[in-house]
Amino acid sequence: MFEVLPLLPADPILGLSTAFKADTNPNKIDLGVGVYKNEQGHTPILDSVAKAQTILLGKEDSKTYITPQGVQGYIDGMLQLMLGKDSPALLADRVAAVQAPGGCGALRILSELIKRCDENLTVWVSDPTWANHIPLIGNAGLTIQTYPYFDKANASINFDAMVECLGQVKKGDVVLLHGCCHNPTGADLTQEQWQVVLELAQKTGFIPFVDTAYQGFGDGLEEDAYGMRLLVNNLPEVIIAASCSKNFGLYRERVGIAVMVTENSTIRQAIQSQIQSIARGIYSMPPSYGGALVDIILNDDTLRHEWMAEVEAMRCRMQDLRSLLVSKMNEYGSSKDFEFVKKQKGMFSFLCITPEQVQAVRDQHSVYFVGSSRVNIAGISKANVDTLAKALVSVL
Ligand code: LMR
Repeated sequence: MFEVLPLLPADPILGLSTAFKADTNPNKIDLGVGVYKNEQGHTPILDSVAKAQTILLGKEDSKTYITPQGVQGYIDGMLQLMLGKDSPALLADRVAAVQAPGGCGALRILSELIKRCDENLTVWVSDPTWANHIPLIGNAGLTIQTYPYFDKANASINFDAMVECLGQVKKGDVVLLHGCCHNPTGADLTQEQWQVVLELAQKTGFIPFVDTAYQGFGDGLEEDAYGMRLLVNNLPEVIIAASCSKNFGLYRERVGIAVMVTENSTIRQAIQSQIQSIARGIYSMPPSYGGALVDIILNDDTLRHEWMAEVEAMRCRMQDLRSLLVSKMNEYGSSKDFEFVKKQKGMFSFLCITPEQVQAVRDQHSVYFVGSSRVNIAGISKANVDTLAKALVSVL
């Protein structure tokens, strides 16, 4: 039966790693998949995570199943981190949540939940959005449409067009928003713009679906939760998918959380049962390990502070790399002004160059990044920035 299926093209993001590995150029540069890298180009295990691993090894005495919702200390710790300690929704018992296998797992089961609620609604995603949003949401059978978000010509958010479009969205439709560090553009809403989005949701009755995979990488752990908390504190219903891949560096452990803010405690209980039945029907229950590590870190004062300092160090390094890239582009005589890169947030930057230029810099200089012109800022280092800037300048 398998002969009916064709060979598929490589994944637009993950496929870059394979192409990069196969390249024999000693000066090749990988700015593809979104993983944090240090100055040596290595993705290290955070010290706080290494300590939590030792603690877990000493105390875990069984590999029996965990509960369907996941590690409870993980869920409690994450909800406080995301929604704030004094979150009115948490205090009112309005928040359902399950640990999920990565942010992807959370996005997928939440999409299935949305479909159970209303299979005819539309999910609106930003143009552009993370490439994998489309299959994750679309494969659940939901209709997807885009709202304008980023204006490549001006390298900034086209907020008027976004507002105009979201003002027309049907009551009950779902609008996917990036909590912070927009992937792929790095262009985030200001606090004033989040307020406008909130008012639009109140007026039209759309349900915000916040994807937050980079908390702490933009302006700080608290600052990056601003938009998400504003929505949760002022709306009856909000859906959230979060990931610990980046800010805990737990990529391969697949640690995420699916959160549903509901109108009241009774609905919360029903939705908790629904999301657990969806997970049971796909993968039964989440893997324990990564969640157990985050539980240890978030619920131990010393380790939590150590982890917060590590997130801050990653954030500041990426910010410095933005400035370094821009100054090197100027130094090598770039015909294009890249000043906007400094204002973008988090791990990614949209260079706003053409797909042909992206291809040329790959073919001629072995510099790998996504065709949309998204670069992983953390892949830049003091050792490769000159090569990178010269390569970019040569194709502009
Ligand atoms: C990315 O956007 O590069 C990361 O989130 C990795 C992925 O799964 O695409």
